Amino acid sequence: MKVVGFVGSPRKNGNTDVLVQQALDGASESGADVEKFYINDMDFKGCQGCNYCREVDACKLNDEMEKAYDALRNADGFVFGSPIYFFQFTGQMRQFIDRCFALINPDFTPRIDAGKKAVIVGAQGNPEPDAFKSTFDEFSQVLQMFGMDVKGTFVDSGHHVPGGVKENTELMAQVKTAGNQLFE
Ligand SMILES: Cc1cc2nc3c(=O)[nH]c(=O)nc-3n(C[C@H](O)[C@H](O)[C@H](O)COP(=O)(O)O)c2cc1C
Repeated sequence: MKVVGFVGSPRKNGNTDVLVQQALDGASESGADVEKFYINDMDFKGCQGCNYCREVDACKLNDEMEKAYDALRNADGFVFGSPIYFFQFTGQMRQFIDRCFALINPDFTPRIDAGKKAVIVGAQGNPEPDAFKSTFDEFSQVLQMFGMDVKGTFVDSGHHVPGGVKENTELMAQVKTAGNQLFE
């Protein structure tokens, strides 16, 4: 099994990165091959709305999103992570999601195989765990549109310092288990 993590925070070793890695470590322990993409390091533009992908099964931009498209087509499981920036996912993550329009048919069926497994992780400064539940739930709906089986959403709340999430040992354990049990 192949599991790919996408980090939507620009901060390496930040809270989102720690949680994505934790889930990947869990998946790795159960025998999966894992790979991690830092979206902020990828050289790609936001969707131009040209609708080329409505006519052809491809994106016209032909940039580094091609690597992500290959991963989304070929991997069996995913860990998607983003911190909350102004009530929403980061701009980097939003651009990434918009570009996944190229993996959707004109009738809104996915161009990737159904049944891939996914875990969502996130981080927010707000100490109220459900403060941005709607944002995470909406993203879960996006993944379900791609035919993915979303196994859980895990959000670190109340930390601003990079890596502060490690204090939340319960969440860290839950995310590790989620990665470990992704295919159960
Ligand atoms: C530009 C910006 C906007 C933010 N907006 C919010 C917000 O609306 N609500 C919130 O709870 N935290 C907000 N935060 C705090 C981050 O979500 C928090 O520090 C998180 O732990 C960062 O995750 P990371 O370490 O993975 O980058 C914001 C941080 C930045 C830099």
